[in-house]
Amino acid sequence: MGRGRYPARLHVSPPPPALAERYFRSWPAHALYHTPTQFPPLSAEGLFGRDAPLTLEFGCATGEYLCALAMTQPAACFVGVDIVAKPLYRAVERAAAANLTNILFIHADARLLYQRIPDASLAAIILHFPPPLLRNRQRNQLLVSPHMLACAARALLPGGYLSFLTDHPALFALMQELLPAFPTLRAQPASPDELAIFESHYHRRWAARGRNISGLRIERVAVG
Ligand SMILES: C[S@@+](CC[C@H](N)C(=O)[O-])C[C@H]1O[C@@H](n2cnc3c(N)ncnc32)[C@H](O)[C@@H]1O
Repeated sequence: MGRGRYPARLHVSPPPPALAERYFRSWPAHALYHTPTQFPPLSAEGLFGRDAPLTLEFGCATGEYLCALAMTQPAACFVGVDIVAKPLYRAVERAAAANLTNILFIHADARLLYQRIPDASLAAIILHFPPPLLRNRQRNQLLVSPHMLACAARALLPGGYLSFLTDHPALFALMQELLPAFPTLRAQPASPDELAIFESHYHRRWAARGRNISGLRIERVAVG
């Protein structure tokens, strides 16, 4: 059975200007690549003008999970990133319906954002159900990569963590294979219940199909 094309089937429109101003940014790949400094740093200070813990989700789709987190932690800030715009339009509707003031969605390729994240600035990174893309010609599009882990090792605060969930055994194995190169990242196997406060659309979808969901809580430990 295929993995589905849910974002393509969404019937949503771009947010009206007032909501876009409040919740949505679009950072085009060519500009991020050639002139990255035209974009603010991906930090609570840079994006919300606040000194607060920031959680970042790579591949947030419709923001279901991140909005649930943002509701439970009003003093913290949350940024969801997705390479496809349509699900983010739904994410904006969700944030607006809950009148959230601590969340923002960025339409961008996460792989081009790593360089805009300051050192020791993130409380958490959420990487739940990233696309497996394990065929040779897709491998450089993977979010599970040495670049992403180098970003996590550098950008997470000591004690901060990367929450990783996947239904794909080969992707889980790849994450485990890459981690030893990053000694400040310590991974503990964690059940989906321990890692996720709430089951997203994809979480429910893969669980309903009987797939085994594996998780890691990858903590950034203090050096020395
Ligand atoms: C299977 S969905 C998972 C959504 C969500 N994390 C969840 O748990 O329900 C994977 C998402 O990753 C996004 N994605 C894939 N590659 C990306 C990239 N390079 N940058 C940002 N988002 C990406 C896809 O567009 C898709 O919305």
